[in-house]
Amino acid sequence: TVIRREDYRPPEWLVPETALDFSLGAGETTVRSMLKVARNPDGSGDKTIRLNGDGIEARSVSVDGKPGNGWRMDGPDLLIDLDGDEHEIAIETVLKPAQNSQLMGLYASNGMLCTQCEAQGFRRITFFPDRPDVLSSFTVRMEGPKDAFPVLLSNGNCVKEGEDGGTHWAEWHDPWPKPSYLFALVAGELVSNHDTFTTMSGRKVDLNIWVRPGDEDRTGHAMESLKASMKWDEETFGREYDLDLFNIVAVSDFNMGAMENKGLNIFNTRYVLADPETATDADYDAIEGVIGHEYFHNWSGNRVTCRDWFQLSLKEGFTVLRDQLFSADMGSEAVKRIEDVRILRSAQYPEDSGPLAHPIRPDSYEEISNFYTATVYNKGAEVIRMMRTMAGPERFREGTDLYFERHDGEAATCEDFVKAIEDGAGLDLGQFRLWYSQAGTPQVKAKLLHENGFATVRLEQTVPVTPGQPEKQPMPIPLKLALFERETGKHKGEALVVLDKESADFSFKGHERRPVLSINRGFSAPVAVEIDTTSEDLVFLAAKDDDAFARYEAMQSLVVRHLISAIGGGLGERERDLERDAVSQAIESALFDEDLDDLMRGELMILPAEAYLAEQMLVADPGAIHAEREGLRAWLGEELQEDFEDLHDRVSEVPYGRDAASRGARKLKTQALLYLAAGAPEEAAERAARQYALADNMTDRQGALMVLCGLDVPERDKALADFRKRYEGNALVLDKWFALQAGSLHPDVLEHVRELAGHPDFTLGNPNRVRSLYMAFAMNPAAFHAESGEGYRMIADLILKLDPINSQTAARFVPPLGRWRRIEPVRSDLMRGELERIAATPHLSRDVREQVTKSLG
Ligand code: ARG
Ligand code: ZN
Repeated sequence: TVIRREDYRPPEWLVPETALDFSLGAGETTVRSMLKVARNPDGSGDKTIRLNGDGIEARSVSVDGKPGNGWRMDGPDLLIDLDGDEHEIAIETVLKPAQNSQLMGLYASNGMLCTQCEAQGFRRITFFPDRPDVLSSFTVRMEGPKDAFPVLLSNGNCVKEGEDGGTHWAEWHDPWPKPSYLFALVAGELVSNHDTFTTMSGRKVDLNIWVRPGDEDRTGHAMESLKASMKWDEETFGREYDLDLFNIVAVSDFNMGAMENKGLNIFNTRYVLADPETATDADYDAIEGVIGHEYFHNWSGNRVTCRDWFQLSLKEGFTVLRDQLFSADMGSEAVKRIEDVRILRSAQYPEDSGPLAHPIRPDSYEEISNFYTATVYNKGAEVIRMMRTMAGPERFREGTDLYFERHDGEAATCEDFVKAIEDGAGLDLGQFRLWYSQAGTPQVKAKLLHENGFATVRLEQTVPVTPGQPEKQPMPIPLKLALFERETGKHKGEALVVLDKESADFSFKGHERRPVLSINRGFSAPVAVEIDTTSEDLVFLAAKDDDAFARYEAMQSLVVRHLISAIGGGLGERERDLERDAVSQAIESALFDEDLDDLMRGELMILPAEAYLAEQMLVADPGAIHAEREGLRAWLGEELQEDFEDLHDRVSEVPYGRDAASRGARKLKTQALLYLAAGAPEEAAERAARQYALADNMTDRQGALMVLCGLDVPERDKALADFRKRYEGNALVLDKWFALQAGSLHPDVLEHVRELAGHPDFTLGNPNRVRSLYMAFAMNPAAFHAESGEGYRMIADLILKLDPINSQTAARFVPPLGRWRRIEPVRSDLMRGELERIAATPHLSRDVREQVTKSLG
């Protein structure tokens, strides 16, 4: 059944108070709930209260102390007719956490019990109006065996605790009313890294990061990130924490990254645990970002929550923007922006151009879990970032202040947010609202005209047709631009133009000579810009643009342009060599530019992703894309061999540290190896093996192993075996071991993956492990798109096998197959065939069924 945004109705009944009582056991947990319910004055007066359930049964139901009361089931939901305006409903349910492999609701992970309720997991615990616009004040009592569950946690503050023989109990109260999706409970053997933070108004907050005994030494970076987040949100958004306690718990089995439950965030271990020996620089960054993200949700998500799940981007888009700005302030703003755009292009653009395209505020869904997408999260962040760009940071802040003030304690909508920014920042966002309703990545064509001292930027936009949206209106597209003087390499200042029609000209005077156009600087709009320009101008910008993103972009465009024409077969031998020379010159200038820091230098060396190249083509041939891109890399590796060797030697001297210079050195080390391995594999293998052996940190060791994994050399197996042995018992590092092999350039990846699936350490029960093997594989273009279709079959088999165990995770593997319409005919048929095979299988979950049906279109 399809749920539609336009069908929203306010709840008939509210639940001012909720008391839950848990008798905990991994095998069996009993839940007694007591709901104080009250008729909603804004409802229609329906006397029936609908309490959602999912796979649970009521052992007993009573209303105002009397059992029975004519309750009935309507599918999974429990209905009760109520005559008065206020009642107390008591319900008992029994759960089997150890058997809950879906990891939604209450489940067991690594010996502990924990919950995941967003979006609709609470209804797997007890019957409740499980919708985000029903806010309730929660009191939670839990009791259980002290030996199995020495630590008992829930939202808010612990108000009472006690023990009775081998059993102990705790009562928690959360003073902030919240929707059921923010409820959380954790019980288990945990130890904490404890610290404190004093807020701007002087409130002393206890901070704990809870992990399994033995992991506590790897929580330091997470704690530093948490304290930095708390401070940053005060300074940047004026947001202060609002409880005396903030708990984070790391669990090994988790469907997503983490969850912002009020006062009790639950995290995937991979976004908590780090030390230099086991975590890469990228892992450190991801931890900082996710810790920030979940913390920032305390205001953008919890204090102001969502009216319904169509408004998901209200909290996610805004919170992603907040975590991006935070990470930018903690490290390099330029590099962070480039990384965020890379994610958008490789994960979100394919959504926008495929069968699953949806606006950041969807109009309908069957399974909301399928809408935790790069579109809702990352494009959602870009849309809010555009408002910030148009308003400027100060006025944007006035807008967000007004938003928080107006809607504190409420369940709000995206419209409420836009209105608050409009009023607070003084912007007219009338037409801008189209960004919330229209799917698809706008395509912008830019051309520079020059006449009589005037430089005119001519812009044209089209918004592509997407499923269910055959007609589009022009969107307001804010583009930052600059016009560079060729002679001086300088410009006279940046301009912000807003293209809000199908086409428009923007003229600038005082240009005696034809300038060079730099546009969409800082990636001011999430659009695809095609500039009618020469390679010469791109080389100029790649070397001189003072906007770091624009400089990176010029370099990317140069390479993309070359690869696209080469892949299309439009280049003769000589032309190709000439173009390769231009690319090689641009890379060389990046290698030797003394003004660049190494982190940024590393960005400039990264070749455009195969997925992004495929996006540029109406119909893509993944085999040709891969061959041409790797061919270019090999050519560069040979051509610039000495440069890359010198670079590798230079950065290998830099000692380990967490500072930018040291991190930049590590980034370049592996980048250089990648080129060298493509150019002269045998020599490079030796170098990589040396990097592996000398490594005193995971970034270098993983980088070297990644390069070795792609080569057919004896050093490969040796390093893989060493790595496995060295990190025995460390699940997160073992995940890397699986992922490196599944994601490698080695010709036998398919075989490797098949073998690894039978490895004793592989299990479908743990989402991190599943992703490390199969998502790495599905994202490995050469292997996944093997001409035989074996890659497609492998992923389809996985989906079918995983679906009954963990449907949410299974559904995440459908989109790679859903790209079939944009792939050359032979592979396209094979991909569609696999989707049809899945569709024809009985008893699919709602998650997988929705994705497969939509993908077949
Ligand atoms: N709100 C969480 C976050 O953004 C995501 C939780 C979604 N979980 C799920 N099972 N769909 O960090
Ligand atoms: Zn979030």
